[in-house]
Amino acid sequence: MPSLVWIHGFPLSSKIFAKQPRGFAPDLAGFGSAPPPSRDYTMNDYAKDVLAGMDAQNIDRAVLGGLSMGGYILMAIARIAPERISGVILIDTRETPDTAESKKGRYDTIEKVKEKGVGVVVEPMLPKMLTSGAPQPLVDETRRIMMSSSSEGVIAALRAMAERSDSTDALRKLNVPALVVAGDQDTITPLADAQRMGALLPNATVVTIRGAAHLSNFEQPEQFNDAVASFLKRHDL
Ligand code: MLT
Repeated sequence: MPSLVWIHGFPLSSKIFAKQPRGFAPDLAGFGSAPPPSRDYTMNDYAKDVLAGMDAQNIDRAVLGGLSMGGYILMAIARIAPERISGVILIDTRETPDTAESKKGRYDTIEKVKEKGVGVVVEPMLPKMLTSGAPQPLVDETRRIMMSSSSEGVIAALRAMAERSDSTDALRKLNVPALVVAGDQDTITPLADAQRMGALLPNATVVTIRGAAHLSNFEQPEQFNDAVASFLKRHDL
């Protein structure tokens, strides 16, 4: 089994990878059990935290899996420490930066979170995380994970996502085996994003997960884990 590192999305925690093969799955600053950052954060800061966590676990090189914002962080690692990556699993994410409109939306949301807390992010986002047919216990568990995020963590991540850079070149240069996964009903990062990333990467396979929205690994863990297992086997990782 290779070293696997799972990097969670927004506003989630390492618990979102509870159904995946075991690996190192840190909570990012301000999410799950991790204390919030004490200053403004960038994607590189989250990337450096993940790398420091890998150091602490004696993981020199690993297959990195990044879900959505976790994918943005994975791409930051690809820019600053590509030697730490033996393969990548990009899950429901994208390489492009925010548009002017989505950036403005992030800053507006920051003001609302300051006033009313993380619920203002969780409630409108929850219906997009899973398909409309997802079982209620799965919806409840997803809400619990999202609500465990701290306001400070959510605010820092919104700002970092708004200011993130374009990772197109990082993907072009990422010459390791890549698995790009997308839920067939993901409206946050639709299938077209996965296909575009697959075309940029030198050595990628794109897999669609049926019956899944944004959290494809969480909603359809069997399909997702099968895709990961055959990817790892095919590339001898
Ligand atoms: C995530 O799931 O991490 C977020 O949807 C990413 C984003 O808002 O761009």
